[in-house]
Amino acid sequence: MKIQNTLLLALLILVLGISCTPPKGEAQEATITSAPFGKLPDGQEVTSYTMTNVNGVSMDVITYGGIVTSLMIPDREGKLEDVVLGYDNIEGYLEQTPYFGAIIGRYGNRIADAKFTLDSVEYSLAANNGPNHLHGGEVGFDKVNWTAKPLEVDNGVALELSYVSADMEEGYPGTLTTSVIYTLTNDNDWIVSYEATTDKKTVVNLTQHAYFNFTAMKDDILSHELKINAPYFLPVDSTLIPTGELRPVEGTPFDFTESKVIGAEIDADNQQIKYGPGYDHCWVLAESTDSLNFAASLYEPTSGRLMEIYTEEPAIQFYAGNFLDGTITGKEGKVYNYRTGLCLETQHYPDSPNQSDFPSVVLNPGETYRTVTVMKFSTK
Ligand code: BGC
Repeated sequence: MKIQNTLLLALLILVLGISCTPPKGEAQEATITSAPFGKLPDGQEVTSYTMTNVNGVSMDVITYGGIVTSLMIPDREGKLEDVVLGYDNIEGYLEQTPYFGAIIGRYGNRIADAKFTLDSVEYSLAANNGPNHLHGGEVGFDKVNWTAKPLEVDNGVALELSYVSADMEEGYPGTLTTSVIYTLTNDNDWIVSYEATTDKKTVVNLTQHAYFNFTAMKDDILSHELKINAPYFLPVDSTLIPTGELRPVEGTPFDFTESKVIGAEIDADNQQIKYGPGYDHCWVLAESTDSLNFAASLYEPTSGRLMEIYTEEPAIQFYAGNFLDGTITGKEGKVYNYRTGLCLETQHYPDSPNQSDFPSVVLNPGETYRTVTVMKFSTK
């Protein structure tokens, strides 16, 4: 069923692409170019790819972590600005990064007490976030050098990133053969298509960790307006592990079912907000019969920039940059203060390997993990 849906999606993109020729005079060719981006300590070369669509919207991606180092999108006047946090060079990413722009795997988000059991075998993972395991461990998918291959697509540009994670890497069973395709369409959509196969039963939950700021980092993210298509969120304990409850958002600061300014209740007197501190929770998306479910929209009123997210995943983590504290100086010397960027990470629920009531994240040999998320950029 999933395969059919993905094929349908590909067909839809193709058809839309053919019918959406940009206005005469403005069109340029969609291109993908590459340049060296430095070296890893072991001498591996990191390459940066610049993907540009016919509207001049562009995205820079490095092979290290599959990190999106720049995303240039227009404001309502057509001015292109970079709306993602990151560094100018590889040294920045190697020294310290809160997962800026990276592919996260094998498991996006937390696994309680850094362990899980599959078929009566207990697997121990790195406890790299208090007592818990976060974002795949010490050397997760955000810290490996992916193999990149530009792909020919009709309606834009695409880059395939591949990585084979060895059996027991970071404590996870099974050789995981992974591919993530970033497509930048001529309709200003960024499509992320994930695929993975394994040779042993394992768990997998991949996501993308871009930090967005539609003021182009001139301000924090508190005046952005957010809508999340979710009737429930997952309350957490003090270490940010879900308690197992699906709590209705209604009447709480977690209600984003109607578009709401992020700053409105981010510091509310609420136990869950205190744990964040602020928003750092997973929302359970409303069920839908569409294969690509509307998950969230993010709007910034001064620039007019709007992003709408559609996904095949059942949930989305909204992290409001609560751990950014001004100690990181990013691109062009900009200091990333408290809540300078936010992440909207489509995914399965945190700690699913330990919570049997949550949708399964188990991948068996012979199956293909396949999931698509689309971020549509426009202005209003
Ligand atoms: C998590 C935060 C974490 C951040 C790391 C987010 O996905 O929800 O709790 O601090 O990643 O940068």
